[in-house]
Amino acid sequence: MSIDDELRRRGERVIPGGMFGHMNAGTLPPGYPQYFERAEGCRLWDVDGNEFIDFMCAYGPMIAGYRNPQVSAAADRQRQIMDIGDGPTRLIVDLAEQLTTQISHADWAIFAKNGNDATTVCNMVARAHTGRRKILVARGAYHGAQPWASRRTKGTPEEDYVHFPRYEFNDIESIRQAAAEVEGDLAGVVVSGFKHDAGFPQALTDPEFARAVRKLCDDTGAALILDDVRAGMRLSLDSSWSLFGVQPDLSAWGKCIANGEPIAAVLGSETYREAAAEVFVTGSFWYQAAPMAAALATLAILRQEDAPRRLDHLGQMFRDGLYEQAQRHGHSLLQTGPPAMPTVMFEDDKGFEVGFRFCSAALREGVYLHPWHNMFLSLAHRESDIGRALEGTDRAFGTL
Ligand SMILES: Cc1ncc(COP(=O)(O)O)c(C=O)c1O
Repeated sequence: MSIDDELRRRGERVIPGGMFGHMNAGTLPPGYPQYFERAEGCRLWDVDGNEFIDFMCAYGPMIAGYRNPQVSAAADRQRQIMDIGDGPTRLIVDLAEQLTTQISHADWAIFAKNGNDATTVCNMVARAHTGRRKILVARGAYHGAQPWASRRTKGTPEEDYVHFPRYEFNDIESIRQAAAEVEGDLAGVVVSGFKHDAGFPQALTDPEFARAVRKLCDDTGAALILDDVRAGMRLSLDSSWSLFGVQPDLSAWGKCIANGEPIAAVLGSETYREAAAEVFVTGSFWYQAAPMAAALATLAILRQEDAPRRLDHLGQMFRDGLYEQAQRHGHSLLQTGPPAMPTVMFEDDKGFEVGFRFCSAALREGVYLHPWHNMFLSLAHRESDIGRALEGTDRAFGTL
């Protein structure tokens, strides 16, 4: 029995369902390990010692390489002096200054732990500022597993959703209609950097849609809330909709801003400062200094290496290679999303049947892909890693 099997057997007795949430390997193709032992650069090793070139980056948080020496040193140094205490360290000011300098729309910052803290705080600030209740959310979008954002979970009464009507992303008419239906009570509209719903092909944001949402928010006085938790820093070092000149009022950040150290951020514009000062939002670990040190180090690396450009280049190289291989092996791939966060599916692949076989075969070649979720590139991926991964995917295509 493999060590992974043995751990699963033990885990099933003490962890509900064997594993909770998005890291339940039961949702992945056969052969995917549940448990890992070691991570370095763009590579992961599972508990049985198998090595993988990783295209999931911990579902986003890793952007500068697992165990990046500069980020680890900054966090470790800070941990040796102080991590938590009766108040934050000076790093909270340094990091708030850095983010408000870097992100055009931002004049202030609140820090938290998870992306779902950040999106929820954005909603609270929007409601506190407007005195209204309704927040429009795109159908199928993920903004965290907390009740208001999740429609997939048991244990949440229908009433928890009543103030969150749905609209269709990239559909201007649907958002106008959803806004009209709650006229006078619209506090905010939540959007994401692009449409990255799990289990579906991705769609880049239509700039016309982005401008229409901005105008709708201006006309109604509602807050434009950009959830940049997943796409943040990979498309732009400013907020993601800056690429089309559209600024949100509030933005939510998490995942990669500290290369995997736990920290999330809510950024807001001047207009929302007073409301942000009035809401009571906090958590025992929200002031931790080590993740703030890691965030400052990570943001410096992302700027130095012009991360979005580099990730786009690496992702495009991977995408082009996969396209050529699919053609040669006689398969139609559906490659969507920005190159830095690619989604790879097969055309007409009901239930991801071919995708599962492809990913299982790639895994055996040491390439960790995902069949139905967007993937992530990192600065730790070198051209040679992409080349090595493509050798594996070529052999994986050959098995289909
Ligand atoms: C767009 C988006 N928003 C919010 C979240 C929630 O972040 P977290 O898992 O850190 O709570 C996620 C997580 O995947 C996300 O992708």
